[in-house]
Amino acid sequence: MRRPDEKIIPLASLTQGRAPLDTLQRPIHDLRISVMDRCNFRCPYCMPRETFHDSYRFLKSSERLDFAELLRLTRLFVRAGVKKVRITGGEPLLRPNLADFIGDLTSISGIEDIALTTNGVLLAKYASELKAAGLGRITVSLDTLDPQVFEKLSGGFAGVADVLDGIEHARRAGLSPIKLNTVIQRGVNDHTAMDLLAHFRGTGVIVRFIEYMDVGTRNHWKPEMVMPSRELAASIHARWPISARGRNYPGEVAERYTYDDGAGEIGFISSVSQPFCGDCSRARLSSDGSLYTCLFATVGTDLRAPLRGGASDDDLFEILRSAWSQRRDRYSEMRASLRDAAGLHKVEMNYIGG
Ligand code: GTP
Ligand code: 5AD
Ligand code: SF4
Ligand code: SF4
Repeated sequence: MRRPDEKIIPLASLTQGRAPLDTLQRPIHDLRISVMDRCNFRCPYCMPRETFHDSYRFLKSSERLDFAELLRLTRLFVRAGVKKVRITGGEPLLRPNLADFIGDLTSISGIEDIALTTNGVLLAKYASELKAAGLGRITVSLDTLDPQVFEKLSGGFAGVADVLDGIEHARRAGLSPIKLNTVIQRGVNDHTAMDLLAHFRGTGVIVRFIEYMDVGTRNHWKPEMVMPSRELAASIHARWPISARGRNYPGEVAERYTYDDGAGEIGFISSVSQPFCGDCSRARLSSDGSLYTCLFATVGTDLRAPLRGGASDDDLFEILRSAWSQRRDRYSEMRASLRDAAGLHKVEMNYIGG
């Protein structure tokens, strides 16, 4: 029974200001900020030319959150538990003055890791500026070293040499570790995987193979196009023996392996054959300020309207806390049953940045 002097504390005030857990008890750990929906590539699996043509309507600059707005939201995400920030796009290096934003991010206490995912061609121009601003490390998307296959997979706007040159600039600038994201599509670039490994073995660059996923609605994904990581790992092992090293932390997307001969680390991101939704602690912010709680989300939570409408920090925190608390996403674990759901209109990858 309640004592006469005991106060009833409303449940809402107990949870206010606290780091939220979602309905599956998952915290928010990573924030992935898409700073730019445009890209200078046209990878068919992400931004096919038929759709993203010259008159495609990308966001206007005024529709994208400016850096002050992004910083304000990032601080609130840090209050909600975020420790790691990844800058993505589209192509994030197309966003003017990005290094200034990264510099400002480094001043937020609580962020332990700042990384950036890029297609690499603009690194020759920006790598040292990014490093000087405080960027820790980068991940470069590179699916093949074969010039013809690369042209087909990137849309023909740059060559393999431009990406390799960008990686070299990043290495010289001291961005480390450098990781590669290599999406493998069976029958498209699987035959070039070994050459890619041969090139980067022993260089310190960590190649991570990603199973091809059914992101968005435009990439004509078919299950037969997925090369399961186990199969790929077996072929690699037959040529260069590798050993599993597990994950660095719960929720890390890649399973790590090292070459037994000491030539370094590689990784496998197996979101189709071995989904990792159980530990998924990633929040995604689109360039126009919507919060998505899954890569395969169909709807986001608009933070821009309240942000520009005069909401206080506490109001905004409550919106994001409530969105995260209600989260029940586990698309990859439910793929088979969700994929064919009528009217499932998933958000596009260039908009929320993979
Ligand atoms: P590290 O911290 O360096 O391990 O990288 P990260 O976890 O930030 O991963 P990164 O952005 O490099 O992700 C690599 C790829 O994994 C992405 O481009 C996606 O293809 C895939 N991926 C990342 N997060 C998720 C996720 O939450 N769900 C699914 N299904 N795939 C993801
Ligand atoms: N499946 C897996 N990974 C993808 N990426 C883009 N589209 C897909 C897909 N359908 C990866 C890119 C890039 C990152 C942002 O997402 O290779 O590295
Ligand atoms: Fe651009 Fe990356 Fe999408 Fe390719 S996968 S179109 S490089 S955002
Ligand atoms: Fe997280 Fe959604 Fe990917 Fe599962 S499918 S790991 S919930 S982003």
